Amino acid sequence: MFNAEKFIEDQIKKIKAEVKGKAIIAASGGVDSTVCAGLVSRAIGDRLLAVYVDTGFMRKGETESVDKMLRRLGVNHIVVDASDEYFAALKGVTEPEQKRKIIGEKFIRIFEREARKFGARFLVQGTIAPDWIESGGGLRDTIKSHHNVGGLPKDMDLDLVEPLRDLYKDEVRKVGRALKIEVAEKQPFPGPALAIRVMGEPTRESVAIVRDACAIVEEEIEKAAAAGKMKLPWQYFAVLLPVKSVGVQGDIRAYGFTIAVRAVDSVDAMTAVYSKLPHDVLETISGRIANKMKDKVNRVVYDITNKPPATIEWE
Ligand code: XMP
Repeated sequence: MFNAEKFIEDQIKKIKAEVKGKAIIAASGGVDSTVCAGLVSRAIGDRLLAVYVDTGFMRKGETESVDKMLRRLGVNHIVVDASDEYFAALKGVTEPEQKRKIIGEKFIRIFEREARKFGARFLVQGTIAPDWIESGGGLRDTIKSHHNVGGLPKDMDLDLVEPLRDLYKDEVRKVGRALKIEVAEKQPFPGPALAIRVMGEPTRESVAIVRDACAIVEEEIEKAAAAGKMKLPWQYFAVLLPVKSVGVQGDIRAYGFTIAVRAVDSVDAMTAVYSKLPHDVLETISGRIANKMKDKVNRVVYDITNKPPATIEWE
């Protein structure tokens, strides 16, 4: 039987003995990196710096909530607003793989910069057992180059500290609870975030549209699931398409963009089936999106493709 208190006590001793200088961790707000930051900060206090990079592609309220959580945990941290840098780097970039590469590389560069400024000698990562047991890249890595906050390059010249390496997700949660860290069960979210949910060049304007649309999709689906109308899908979100179509606003012709709603059920993300959402939930989502984004979006469609042949994300 896994004993979280004992694990914490042992790890704190071990970290204190091993980590003699300053350490840095990339915080994403996810369970693993948050629990890891909480644990290491108990051992070495402010010699740990957690870095949260706001790329400009975060979901509604995400940066604020991560900042609040780290503050509440007493973890020494900074929020780096790198949005100008990201939007500039992606100017005119429309090809999905190129977008992913630029976003991933920029993240590494920003993180390295902060590590140097802080004088870190150790790199803390929230790697857990399934991350390395299944490493070697499955099918999905050949389809899309994944950007993962945990996947920083080993050539950073920092000593790696991975206190959660032997744990499985449920054990990480137990450690989290013992440390009074309650990270809500969240749906999976891609590293490049909302940048790959706008087809084509991500601009401040297009990302703002998909941010609002994603928030509406999440709210309505979670509300319907909480009311027992449906089961919560594995993943659910909105995508902004560059397709314009004709609509009508009052009695005036409109010409606006399209939002695609995507909800899927899956076990391991390798295959997925589209969720059979109740039509009234879809209708509420469609109405709210069109109403909120009157001057920009006038058509909402539902993606009824499984994986394969499609992938879960559109890029
Ligand atoms: P696809 O779109 O390939 O996605 O069917 C499978 C699952 O992976 C998520 N995803 C990512 N996760 N970094 C991640 O950590 C990424 O770059 C990335 N791209 C896609 C996707 O949301 C789905 O759950």
